Amino acid sequence: MSIETHHISKTFGHPPTTVLRNVSLTIPDNDFVSITGRSGSGKSTLLYILSTLDNATEGKIVIDGETVSAMTPQEVHRFRNQKMGFVFQFHYLLPELTALENILIPARKTKVHEAKREKALALLEKFDLKGKDHRLPSQLSGGEQQRVAIARSLIMDPQYLFADEPTGNLDSVNGDTVIKILKDLNEHENMTIIIVTHDPDYAAMAKRRIHLVDGEVVDQ
Ligand SMILES: Nc1ncnc2c1ncn2[C@@H]1O[C@H](COP(=O)(O)OP(=O)(O)OP(=O)(O)O)[C@@H](O)[C@H]1O
Ligand SMILES: [Mg+2]
Repeated sequence: MSIETHHISKTFGHPPTTVLRNVSLTIPDNDFVSITGRSGSGKSTLLYILSTLDNATEGKIVIDGETVSAMTPQEVHRFRNQKMGFVFQFHYLLPELTALENILIPARKTKVHEAKREKALALLEKFDLKGKDHRLPSQLSGGEQQRVAIARSLIMDPQYLFADEPTGNLDSVNGDTVIKILKDLNEHENMTIIIVTHDPDYAAMAKRRIHLVDGEVVDQ
């Protein structure tokens, strides 16, 4: 299975500004792709389109053989909930929920949170957060919060993991831990990882790099 884009472009506003131009790429199963480029080059926009969070203005996205634009909004929603995990630069944990409850948010949406409780606890342990399940985000360090956010992205066993500068707010030790977690998921759980990063060392750890200049893929 794979994610394919066919000649996608994206424009914003009136008059339209083009932020992605004619992007065609294929991301096969178990790939580990980094998306790089200067600020404003279109990295986040491309990640959001690849992950169905945003639509392309032109062109076609095919994920696991299905054309996204031909799916109903409910189908896209279910697809995203079942197959995709997301990690962002800011963790977006809900401040009034504990670490454990935050991890179970995606499971709650489809009412499988009871069944996923053991998995959530196992993820907490795996990410060195054992015993911190009842802490609120404000009672955790930045690195711990980001690991909770990663655990949340994994609770539904996604096939694809999308990360937009997941190390952007972390020091190098915590940043390295996050990248190690992603690499491990790619190598041992066959997950496809697509990561936007500014860090050349992290970009180089991916199997493949997609470099954007002014919305165009110049290197892949
Ligand atoms: N919703 C929007 N409306 C209008 N313009 C937008 C919108 N989202 C992004 N843009 C513009 O599209 C261009 C690409 O934005 P994008 O967020 O993809 O860049 P980026 O490569 O992720 O940058 P950064 O490294 O700063 O996060 C920018 O010029 C931005 O201002
Ligand atoms: Mg961005």
